[in-house]
Amino acid sequence: MTRVLGIETSCDETGVAVVENGHNVLVNEVASQVAIHAPFGGVVPEIASRHHTECISQLTRLALDAAGGTIDAIAATCGPGLTGSLLVGMNFGKALSYAWGVPFVPVHHIEGHIYSAFLGPDPPEFPLLALIVSGGHTCLIWCPEPHVYEIIGTTRDDAVGECFDKVARLLGLPYPGGPSIQKAAEGGNPRALDFPRAMAKGDSLEFSYSGLKTAVLYALKKDPPPVPDVAASFQYAAMDILLIKTKLAIQKTGAARLLLAGGVAANKHLRERLASELDVPVSMPPFSLCIDNGAMIAAAGASRLARGMVGDLRAGVFASLPLS
Ligand SMILES: Nc1ncnc2c1ncn2[C@@H]1O[C@H](COP(=O)(O)OP(=O)(O)OP(=O)(O)O)[C@@H](O)[C@H]1O
Ligand SMILES: [Mg+2]
Repeated sequence: MTRVLGIETSCDETGVAVVENGHNVLVNEVASQVAIHAPFGGVVPEIASRHHTECISQLTRLALDAAGGTIDAIAATCGPGLTGSLLVGMNFGKALSYAWGVPFVPVHHIEGHIYSAFLGPDPPEFPLLALIVSGGHTCLIWCPEPHVYEIIGTTRDDAVGECFDKVARLLGLPYPGGPSIQKAAEGGNPRALDFPRAMAKGDSLEFSYSGLKTAVLYALKKDPPPVPDVAASFQYAAMDILLIKTKLAIQKTGAARLLLAGGVAANKHLRERLASELDVPVSMPPFSLCIDNGAMIAAAGASRLARGMVGDLRAGVFASLPLS
């Protein structure tokens, strides 16, 4: 029985969780800063790090009280992310590791998202293909074995979550854009507007989302169509691209399983289409574990711990950090 305390502070969510045996979530506390940053239309780094500092002790106390028992290791996000925010979680984690005399495991944020799909009774097996769709990433990753990553496709410009956020702003919908657009799209016609599917043809696994955002801008400049129709047509086009590229990546790699993760993995339309249109099984985290959280960091940390891949108190933070 191994219990890992996971700490996530890379952006605007303070997450602290305790995970048992790498997949059983005992407690997952998340303090969201969405309401604090909403008036600015995006995350303000200084405000984010200050807020992490204010709530991390209390959140950890809550998590430890709820989980009970002892902790065998601490895992914390070391990057990529906002430097000030990362420093709060990493230093807090290192201090606890020193005080309790337990190993410290730095975790890459995207590896954390991948391991969010391992949180449940039926964790996927390697090798697998991962589709990571979040606020800062859109990538296809071939994972032949645990902690070995080959990025086979990524975005040339905007990430898909970033595109949802920007389009929501164009439509006057609240931040964060993903859930707002999903809600607005419910009453709309996904075929009302024919938005472009960038780089859909050919053999490339690269994505591009900046043209889609511009296409929405131009559509709104003419005779503005109803918001639900724009939202539904945009969502359909944005997800179409993910489907097209994922099918191609499955063909190229011969993958027998897809893993979906990242904030955009909370999108119902995407989840349903991947589950029904692909020939391979899809592992995805529950809705609540798609956005940033400590449980995914604890799960990745537990897997590293089991393989002796631990760090030490000299571990640093990295605003940008390659996965492989
Ligand atoms: N239901 C949804 N549909 C589409 N997008 C969504 C949905 N829910 C959340 N998102 C998007 O997910 C993103 C947030 O995801 P996440 O928290 O993983 O991003 P991040 O941590 O800021 O970026 P990264 O993980 O790349 O560093 C936002 O862009 C948000 O709009
Ligand atoms: Mg994230």
